[in-house]
Amino acid sequence: MNRTSTHTPGSRPATLCLALAGGALLLGLSAGCRGDRSDNPPRQFFPDMDDQARWQSQGESRFFADGRTMRLPPDGTVPFGAWPLLDDEAGLGEAVARRASYLKEDRGFYEGQNPDGSPVDVMPASVTRAMLERGAERFNIFCAVCHGYEGDGQGVVGSLWSYPVPSVHLEQYQPGGELGQDGHLYRVAMWGVVGPDGRRAMPGYAHALSEEDGWAVVAYVRALQASRQGDINDPGIPENVRRNLRQQRAAAPAPAPTPDDDANGENGENPSAPMNGGAQ
Ligand code: HEC
Repeated sequence: MNRTSTHTPGSRPATLCLALAGGALLLGLSAGCRGDRSDNPPRQFFPDMDDQARWQSQGESRFFADGRTMRLPPDGTVPFGAWPLLDDEAGLGEAVARRASYLKEDRGFYEGQNPDGSPVDVMPASVTRAMLERGAERFNIFCAVCHGYEGDGQGVVGSLWSYPVPSVHLEQYQPGGELGQDGHLYRVAMWGVVGPDGRRAMPGYAHALSEEDGWAVVAYVRALQASRQGDINDPGIPENVRRNLRQQRAAAPAPAPTPDDDANGENGENPSAPMNGGAQ
C-alpha cells in the first residue's frame, strides 16, 4: 500500500506547523523548569491537584465525632500495603506468612490454645535446628536472667526477684506434667504469670517475642529438660561421642554420684566401671 496516497495535498504544511509549534512550547516549558531556582510560587497548571484540603496527622478533625484526624483501623483489618513494601528478595512465602500473622486466625499457633481454651499439648510448629538455635538465643536474652542459662531458676535477677523462680526441670513442667503442655509454656513465655495474690509474678515477653520466637523458646526449654535426662547408653549416641563424653566426665571434678549413673550398665561392655572413670 502506498502510504503517501492517504495525504491530501495541503495537509502536510499544516501538520508541520503544528509539530513546530508543539516543539517550541515544550522547549519553552522545559527551559523554564530545568535547573532553575526561584522564590516565586511555582506555576500551577492544574491547581486543584496541588491545593487540596489536608489534615495534620495529630490534628483536630471536625468531621469525625471523636474530633481525631487519625483513625484506628477497624478490627480484623489486614494492611494491604504490606505487599508492595516487601523486599525484592522476599519470596511469596514470606508475604503469605505475614498476612497470616496479621489475621492471627490459628488459635493454636498464636495463642497456644485449643478451641475450648485449654493449652495445646504439642506445639503447632515444626522443630528445626535453626529454630532451636533461635530459641536458645531468645531464652538466653529474655529468660536466663531469672531462670538461669540452664533453666534451673538460678538466674542473677531471679535470685533477687520478689517471687521464687521455679526450675523448668520440675516434674510438673515436663511433657505430660500438670503444667507441662507446650501451649502452657508458650503462654507463660508470651504473657507471663499473675500470682494467686493478683501480683505479677513473671512478666510476659510478647512485646519482644514473635509467635515463632515463642515456640522456639518452648522448644529450647524442652531441649534444656532433655539435656538433664540424657542417658549415655542411648543407642542414638555415636560411639566416638560416647567415648568423648566419658573422657570429659572423667576429667571434670566429680559431682556427687546420682542414681542414674550407669544404672543400665554400659551396653554390656564393662558394666562395673563407674561413669566418671573412677575419678573420685
Ligand atoms: C523477671 C524474672 C523472670 C523472667 C525474666 C522470666 N521468668 Fe518465668 N517465672 C518467673 C517467676 C517468678 C515464676 C513463678 C511464677 C509463679 O509464682 O507461678 C516464673 C514461672 C515460669 C514458668 C512456670 C509457670 C507456671 O505455670 O508454673 C515457666 C514455664 C517460665 N517461667 C518460663 C519462662 C520463660 C520461657 C521466660 C522467658 C521468655 C521466663 N520465664 C522469663 C520469673 C521470670
